[in-house]
Amino acid sequence: MVPESKLTPRTPLNPPVNGGKQDKHPIRFSDEGIEWAAEQVVELLKERRPRVLLVSDELVALHYAEAFVQTLTRKGFEVVTSTFPPGESQKTFARISSLLDSLALEKFARDDLVIGLGGGVVTDVAGFAAAIYSRGMDWIAVPTTLLGMVDAAIGGKTGVDHPLEKNLIGAFHQPLAVFAPMKLLDTLEHRQWTAGSAEVVKAGLLAGGELWNMIAEHGADLGNWDRSAAVQIIPKSARVKIEIVAQDEREAGLRRLLNFGHTFGHALESVSGYSTFLHGEAVFLGMRAAIRLSQSLGFLAEKVARSIEEILSQVAIPFAEIRPDELLEALLHDKKHQAGKLNWVLLEDIGKAKIVTDIPPELIRETAEWLCDVAGKGTVQASGKQRIRILVLNGPNLNLMGTREPEIYGQDTYEDLVAQLREFAESHEIDLLIRQSNVEGELISLIHAARHWADGIVINPGAYTHTSVAIRDAIAAVRVPTIEVHLSDISQREEFRKVSLVAPVCAGQIVGKGIGGYLEALEELGIRN
Ligand code: DQA
Repeated sequence: MVPESKLTPRTPLNPPVNGGKQDKHPIRFSDEGIEWAAEQVVELLKERRPRVLLVSDELVALHYAEAFVQTLTRKGFEVVTSTFPPGESQKTFARISSLLDSLALEKFARDDLVIGLGGGVVTDVAGFAAAIYSRGMDWIAVPTTLLGMVDAAIGGKTGVDHPLEKNLIGAFHQPLAVFAPMKLLDTLEHRQWTAGSAEVVKAGLLAGGELWNMIAEHGADLGNWDRSAAVQIIPKSARVKIEIVAQDEREAGLRRLLNFGHTFGHALESVSGYSTFLHGEAVFLGMRAAIRLSQSLGFLAEKVARSIEEILSQVAIPFAEIRPDELLEALLHDKKHQAGKLNWVLLEDIGKAKIVTDIPPELIRETAEWLCDVAGKGTVQASGKQRIRILVLNGPNLNLMGTREPEIYGQDTYEDLVAQLREFAESHEIDLLIRQSNVEGELISLIHAARHWADGIVINPGAYTHTSVAIRDAIAAVRVPTIEVHLSDISQREEFRKVSLVAPVCAGQIVGKGIGGYLEALEELGIRN
């Protein structure tokens, strides 16, 4: 286990709020998995058994909620779960309102507990609901993404977007604790690693020292690092934020340094409609602009600026056509919200940042033009094909493959199926989620959740093929290209098996080829995508 971050107390710029909780609450990292995080909750609360509202998104819940809840309930906790679709679109007041409804309907009290299990959207929303329900209840953050672990879950900023502006509504509400199970990052997509790396690199440039040396040695995209090195740097990076927040929780001064790279970064996100860049990708470009400005103004030595640019320019960023005028307009919009002047965070050296407000407009224009040019080129890797993501779903009795009527379904076991699927997916750069269930409703819920993330579904509904209108309706509803597979050739079997209710809503049907049929289906979906 990686040791707990130690806060080095310095003179606070602001009196600490929450009774100084910011200085005390544990922020722990471990290279273990989700059960570890649940055990930490149990340990933290000692004999206390508050009721828990577990807030998560459907995708995170699919992977981790069951194990997390089981660990808590085994220790005597009562857990109510509230999940919602993944994505920034959920960071709304309507979502908060529905969480407040759940808390009220379930008669939660102020001394109960909210746990946010997920990425930045989940912890922002969970923390905000906890901040305002019953005038403030405790909450714990369990971040599941790199960005969450190094940034979003730390610092106590909670809230939602307003239709007119991101993060406009919210509260400072420190969690009781943050537990980051880094094993979960094993399954994080490369692009999410890249985006999360921006906040690590930002911390490295603000703090310098060992943190920056590691980045200079291994590169700015943690997705390309050895996992053991990545696991080392994550808590170190988080500690930079923890220490800054400990001194200036309410962003009166020092905390503003954390906006390094975010001025142009926000403007890029906003002009591209929040769809082209992930937040971190825009921040990478924003940091490159800030380095350029720092050098142009004579704060940063040319040699240092060049060495940083060399490292940052290696990171894969999607291509975007942006006009400098639009970018400047977006900056002006931000300016209105900062009492008429933009606070630029610039570097004087690695490990030494400062805030500058009076930058000549021509220099900002020139930097905006440069940035649009850089964004217009993108990089091959990011603008190329992303890994496709497929759900492989098996219905009732397929867990008994190998032992179940082998003369019909063959000798291969379910474990053989999973192993061959994984091997095929790895060599074809496909991300897979493989699930089997004997319960119709569970299969339907998995199909529903797939609409948020999957590029395709391979389904063997087992006997439900011939009976389930509900599974057929689910496939039709989600509009994810789906291929139906059967181990046996159902057209050559009993009359009742010849009819497939799902076939009319599937893009294809493969029968009688055993495990080979599943692999063929994956290949077919790969070509379609
Ligand atoms: C099956 C065929 C179904 O008729 C049967 O109920 C199954 C397996 C197949 O893979 O061949 O469970 O889907």
